[in-house]
Amino acid sequence: MKRVFLCNVSELSVNTVRKVDNAEHGDIAVYNLSGQYYATADLCSHATASLAEGDIEDDLIVCPVHWGTFHIPTGEARDFPCEINIRTYKVEQEGDDLFALIADKAEDPSLIAKG
Ligand code: FES
Repeated sequence: MKRVFLCNVSELSVNTVRKVDNAEHGDIAVYNLSGQYYATADLCSHATASLAEGDIEDDLIVCPVHWGTFHIPTGEARDFPCEINIRTYKVEQEGDDLFALIADKAEDPSLIAKG
């Protein structure tokens, strides 16, 4: 398990998402949903879009390219054309800092494909 710095709480307004570059694990999208923090893979599993450029609708992120959606807390693919879940990460807050806890891929239940 690795702990990766994401951003400061003060940089993430309510109901927004931002991209965090991560060369080792793939870029991460970090979300503030009504004061709860979540993190998912930033790359849409349908093609090559950055989900951080999409829109948040309730607890879904809408991909900016073909408008498929994912459930932010679980990474579950919800709407066509997305069919493969995206990875999620547990987020820890320490003061003003947010961190993602990154498990080995083999141990990560969010990597199980839908259906
Ligand atoms: Fe995201 Fe197609 S690239 S839905």
